[in-house]
Amino acid sequence: MNAPIVADSVAALRVQVRNWRLAGLRVAMVPTMGALHDGHISLVRIALERADRCVVSIFVNPTQFAPTEDLDRYPRQLTRDLERLREAGAHLAFTPSVAEMYPTGFATKISVGGPSSGLETDFRPNFFDGVATVVAKLFLQAAPDCAVFGEKDYQQLCVVRQLCRDLDLPVEIVGAPTVRDAHGLAMSSRNAYLGDAELDIARQLNAILRRTAAALSAGADEADAIEDATKAVISVGFRKVDYVAARASVTLEPWQQNRNGRLLAAAWLGTTRLIDNVEIPSA
Ligand code: PAJ
Repeated sequence: MNAPIVADSVAALRVQVRNWRLAGLRVAMVPTMGALHDGHISLVRIALERADRCVVSIFVNPTQFAPTEDLDRYPRQLTRDLERLREAGAHLAFTPSVAEMYPTGFATKISVGGPSSGLETDFRPNFFDGVATVVAKLFLQAAPDCAVFGEKDYQQLCVVRQLCRDLDLPVEIVGAPTVRDAHGLAMSSRNAYLGDAELDIARQLNAILRRTAAALSAGADEADAIEDATKAVISVGFRKVDYVAARASVTLEPWQQNRNGRLLAAAWLGTTRLIDNVEIPSA
């Protein structure tokens, strides 16, 4: 595989994508914050199945981090990321600086309602404004035909779909299944923060969610099932549970028994915050 073209300016990105379009090629985008793992690479594979060219953005977006969060220690490893993208066959890596994305005087914010309310927003109130603003910018910069997002960040996927629908952004949003390690732990750049003992604990989160989703599908009382799950997450060693919640799969409104839904959770292991979610199949 050839090394991906690296563009660090919007102008260079636009020239390349315009040339591909003039040649009649279909372009897919995979937005990321780098520190690429097999989950990200699975999105690149899906993008390459759906398009002729794949643009991967690598940008640790400061506007989606709260001042108390891990912006400074978020893993950055561009050389390794570019090597992984070469192996995966991505065609272009867009690696803008903060100044390129947010020049002095930048003053616009996109705020999506609907699926952004509750869950992550209860704990990270400005997170989805930051995500929606940067994703809208990336789509306007790259003008892809489609973009692939992971179900790992399920609420984010719903918010991005809402953003495109509401602003008539002509980008088809493709949701991709969560890639997990052999023990069920969802791959995440933040797993790099975990020591071996913490990894053992983290690996139990998905099993608890799957068990709880199965109980909900089988008719268990929702409040009891959520309480049991929350207690189980603490008893395996998590420090704090932000939420365990059952929601409707598209709108993220409250889940109704016998309907297809999603069970979502966020919990703290030491100073690391992990999220995961599973389907609640309709009975
Ligand atoms: P990041 O956390 O780097 O994730 C980039 C994409 O990879 C997201 O669509 C995310 O859902 C997906 N992803 C992460 N882990 C995954 C896994 N285990 N399996 C499948 N997909 C996975 O999400 C962001 O960056 C940012 O918020 C971004 C959208 C780039 C905006 O800044």
